[in-house]
This record gives sequence, C-alpha cells and structure tokens, in this order.
Amino acid sequence: MKNNRRTFIKKSALTIGAAGLSGAVGAPFLYSGAKAAPSEIVNIGLIGCRNMGFGNLEKHLGYADARCVALCDVDSNILDQRAKDVKDKFGQNPDKYTDFRKLLENKDLDAVIIGTPDHWHCLPMIAACEAGKDVYVEKPMANYIAECNLMVKAANKYNRVVQVGQQQRSGAMWAEIMKTIKSGELGKLRKVEIWANFNYGVGGKTVPDSPVPAGVDYDFWLGPAPKRDTFNAQRFHGYWRMFWDYGGGLMTDWGVHLIDMALWAGDVTTTPETILSYGANLSYPNHSRDVFDTMSVTFPQKDYIITWQHAAGTQTGPWDRNYGLNFICDNASIVANRGGYKILPEYDDTIKADKVPAYTFEEGRENHDLHARNFLDCIKSRAKTNCPPEIGRQVALYAHMANIAARTGDEKLVWDEDNNRLPMLQKPMP
Ligand SMILES: NC(=O)c1ccc[n+]([C@@H]2O[C@H](COP(=O)([O-])OP(=O)(O)OC[C@H]3O[C@@H](n4cnc5c(N)ncnc54)[C@H](O)[C@@H]3O)[C@@H](O)[C@H]2O)c1
Repeated sequence: MKNNRRTFIKKSALTIGAAGLSGAVGAPFLYSGAKAAPSEIVNIGLIGCRNMGFGNLEKHLGYADARCVALCDVDSNILDQRAKDVKDKFGQNPDKYTDFRKLLENKDLDAVIIGTPDHWHCLPMIAACEAGKDVYVEKPMANYIAECNLMVKAANKYNRVVQVGQQQRSGAMWAEIMKTIKSGELGKLRKVEIWANFNYGVGGKTVPDSPVPAGVDYDFWLGPAPKRDTFNAQRFHGYWRMFWDYGGGLMTDWGVHLIDMALWAGDVTTTPETILSYGANLSYPNHSRDVFDTMSVTFPQKDYIITWQHAAGTQTGPWDRNYGLNFICDNASIVANRGGYKILPEYDDTIKADKVPAYTFEEGRENHDLHARNFLDCIKSRAKTNCPPEIGRQVALYAHMANIAARTGDEKLVWDEDNNRLPMLQKPMP
C-alpha cells in the first residue's frame, strides 16, 4: 500500500505538471534557464513586492515562459530592493511604479500578481481585469464579502483568467488525499477537524507610534481602509493581518487554506449556510491586535461537520502538529498538513485487523510553483485555473463569516446566498 500510494503520488505530480503543460506550452518551460519563443512569453507585473508577492513572482520566473516587466510598491525601499533582486536573480529589468494604475497602463503587460495586504486585493484586481490583464491574486480573495462578490463579477465580465493564491489546490498530495476520501475506501466522511496554532497570530509587541518611514506613501498603503493620522509599525508590513481594517487574523490567513481542503473533500461548492463561532482575546495583552487570539468555529455541512480551532501564541497542537486537518471517516482518519499525511485505520474487533491499511507519506511540499505553472498554462489555454475566483470567494465567505459571527456576538449566522446577505445579523460590528 505504501509503495503503491507513493508511486501514485509521483505519477500524480507528473500528471498535474504534464496536464498543465499540454496544449500551447511544451515541457521545456518547466525548467528555469530553458529558452521560450518570444510569442510564448507571459509578461508579468507584480503589485505588492515585499513578501508573498515576491515569492510568487520568483516561482513564475522559475519558468522560462515568464518574464517580469513591471514592479509596483508604495514603499520605495521595497520597490528598489526587489528591482535589484529581479536583476540579480533573473537578469531582468522591470519598470518601477508606485501607483498600480500607472502600472496597468503598461501595454507590454499580460498578467499581474497581487501581493498586497488583504484590504488592497479588490481594487487592483478589478482594475487589472478592466485593463485586460489576467490576475494571480493572493488569498483571502478580499477583506470583505462584498469585495469578493465584485471580484467574481469582474473576472467573468472581462473574461479574465484569475488564480487565487490557495496553492494547495495545485498540490498532488492534496489531490491524492481528496481522491482517497472520495473513493469511499475509508468509509463515510463524517467530520473534518481543522486547527492552526501560530505564535505570530497574537501580533507584534506593542510599540509607540512613530513617524512614517522615509520612502513610504502611507496614505496609499491605507487606501480603502480607514484613514489614520498616526503611523504604528505593528499595523504595517506583515503585522497588518492582525487588524480588522486590513485582515482577519489566523481565521482568514490560514482559514482559507485549510477550510478550502475540508470543503474540497466533500465537493462542497456552495457558500456557507450556518456558522457557529466563538472568539476571544485571552493572552499576550502587551501585543497589538484587534483579531481574536482564540477561536472555536463549527461549519455544519449537509452530511459532515467541519470544525476550526486556533490558539494564537501557541505552536503545538493535535497529532503533534501546530496546524493541520483530521478527516474522520468510518474506517480511518487522514491527518494531514503540508508536510505530509497519515492514514490512521480503525480496528475491526470481529476480524481482529485494521479496517484499512495504515499509511504514512512524509514528503509533502509547498505548491506555489505548481500553482504558478497552472496560472501560466491557463493564461495560454484560457481554461479555468485550479483556484478560480468562485472558489476564492466561497472559502473567504466561510472565514469572514466566522469572524463576523464572533465579532457581533451573534455567534450563529445564516447566510442568504440568493440575496447575498446575512439576515440574522442583529448587532452592529464593534
Ligand atoms: N498563499 C500563501 O501561502 C500566502 C503566504 C503569505 C501571505 N499570503 C498573502 O499575500 C498577501 C501579502 O502578504 P505579505 O505577507 O506579503 O504582506 P507584506 O506586508 O509583507 O507585503 C505587502 C506589500 O504590499 C505593499 N503594498 C501595500 N499596498 C500597496 C498598494 N496599494 N500598491 C502596491 N503595493 C502595496 C506593501 O508596501 C508591501 O511591500 C496577503 O494577502 C497574504 O494573505 C499568502
């Protein structure tokens, strides 16, 4: 079983790569350094260059049919550093912009990667669609449900290829787990337990306000978020995710990745109906955040239950993993995170044997490169990506509704998909 599964996974990895490469593109594009015909090259612009945006760009530039022609950041220190990095690592000389609207006027551009904080996903994404560019937008798709709705509409209205940065959707290991669960060999799926415990989720240590750093256009960084007259480093680069104005804490940061897997396991494509959510701030009082450090959420599905737990400021968890999923089926459970997975069989007392064979796979990996490859291929084929905006919106709704329910104290929310609203929302958001 072990060998069979391993062989399958290797094959699946190849299949995903090969399927992605079929059609317009050929195998040489898999490897950095190979040559691509100019007509095959996808010209990319990056908006938001500091961390994940640049990581995504590097993955794209690892393929010979991708080229960076433009970079944009409202922090000119980051912009200059990343322009140098692109030159040093890839020998390319992108144009530099501090305003994404100017970048979108660049006629050479085919596609943009949006690596800005969550509050700055929607506007550049819609503007890029209007400008006829394809879009790789980071997760969660947006910081508000209404923004997610508009983004799906824009992608469809302007007929753009959009990949949302839920890269596990391109991962062979995750596809194998889904296949195993859906095959029924483990019995009926009853419950998916999710947990995500990370130290960073409590925010940074509180510091006094300070002057806006030289080279930063802070008003532009705030953009659609509420205006602020003061600057604080713990609300800025990287730390913004712990403030409602810009992000949703661990619930949205990790929630969209992991809830996405729990939904995929049951082929759920609908928006959440009911959510039970509790959130509290119980630890690290000398740290800066709005979001909850501690949450317990239940997302009932038609025939299985998804649960979410996080305790930010801790990094231990069930099954000796600080984050992961436990897919509980009648005959076995699958415990998984990006590092690998285990099939843990139930014991059959009648036949005195495990109901299914145990199995361990420890060669998990990050999948940003495969997700980038899928985006490049879809730009050429005009096929749907592995994570189109509909999936990005769906899982963002789950994560945002959990936060909304806990923030309002409504705890139990019911989503009205037909009217796109939360009819049970009684109390205003604090
Ligand atoms: N898929 C993943 O595994 C993964 C991992 C980490 C982060 N992310 C996502 O990536 C996004 C970025 O996260 P990060 O950790 O890189 O944040 P970050 O704060 O490190 O970087 C964001 C960058 O965007 C720039 N920026 C802000 N507003 C801008 C604007 N209007 N125009 C141009 N540049 C602007 C900032 O100056 C900064 O350089 C977030 O949505 C996050 O959730 C995804």
